[in-house]
Amino acid sequence: MNLAELNTIANRMVARGRGILAADESTGTIAKRFDKIGVENTEPNRRDYRELLFRCAEGMKHISGVILYDETIRQKSADGNGTPLVKLIENAGAVPGIKVDKGAQKMALDPDQTVTEGLDGLRDRLVEYHKLGARFAKWRATYNPTKPSWNSINANAHALARYAALCQENGIVPIVEPEVLMDYDNDIDTCASITEWVLKEVFQELYYAQVKLEGIVLKPNMIVPGMKAAKQASVEEVADRTIQVLKRCVPSAVPGIAFLSGGQSDEDATAHLSAMNARHKLPWHLTFSYGRALQAAPQKAWSGKKENVPAAQNAFAHRARMNGLAAMGEWNKGLEKAA
Ligand code: 13P
Repeated sequence: MNLAELNTIANRMVARGRGILAADESTGTIAKRFDKIGVENTEPNRRDYRELLFRCAEGMKHISGVILYDETIRQKSADGNGTPLVKLIENAGAVPGIKVDKGAQKMALDPDQTVTEGLDGLRDRLVEYHKLGARFAKWRATYNPTKPSWNSINANAHALARYAALCQENGIVPIVEPEVLMDYDNDIDTCASITEWVLKEVFQELYYAQVKLEGIVLKPNMIVPGMKAAKQASVEEVADRTIQVLKRCVPSAVPGIAFLSGGQSDEDATAHLSAMNARHKLPWHLTFSYGRALQAAPQKAWSGKKENVPAAQNAFAHRARMNGLAAMGEWNKGLEKAA
């Protein structure tokens, strides 16, 4: 393992004022997004949509890395020159990455929880993805905080650690993504206590697997009440509770933490990140690795129409810029209105 190289990549992924675009929706997940905007889920449509993002110079200024899906890392641009989409990302100064997990499956005898699969054959797939240009990878585990089970927390932590070790062995920085879901009616205390438990287990397993923390990026959820909770939380409370849990669990050897948006509104995801950076002195870089919170606006603006590409790129550039500012603690609501 070349730890200096991994550390350099990890630091690029969390460089000041930039963050990660999670464009790694599986074919099934992008179908749900396209459904909402009335776009047929075909290979050329998926390519055209993602190409418009990667070619958006104004947006990509704030993007340090892009997480791709298996199809996208092999796709060529529609420019007639056969330019790989990976090349567009590199030309924009961002690091290409790849989702390598095979999704969360129902846990046997524990139907309220899932375990993420995809370890079989992973070493060979990582070798191939590295050749295709990937320098980081992503593996996501999910947890239902209303029905916690040690078995699922332990199984997912173990899988994340085995994945992370395989990545580092092959010169790829693992994004370690344990996501306590915000889909339920639990309060913010429950999210905090389950996230703390999950992170403790994850870092323990990373240690046993000999994963070097200088060569990973953590992608956690923020500490929020469930979407169906009776009481929601203020921006400051989310920021302070999230930092409290992270400080308890994440060693300062980790170069950076890049949050998922998890179903928060675009503006909430930005406001929370900015408040964390503005209100706290932190041992790691704190940034975004958003899927929905970066893409909902451009998807709506695009709606599958060629003539809407400039509007979609403007929408993407705006969200990328807002989140870039949030990563420095410099965002405020007025900037949204001004735009
Ligand atoms: P969201 O920001 O939409 O939660 O997606 C991030 C991601 O990569 C989930 O795995």
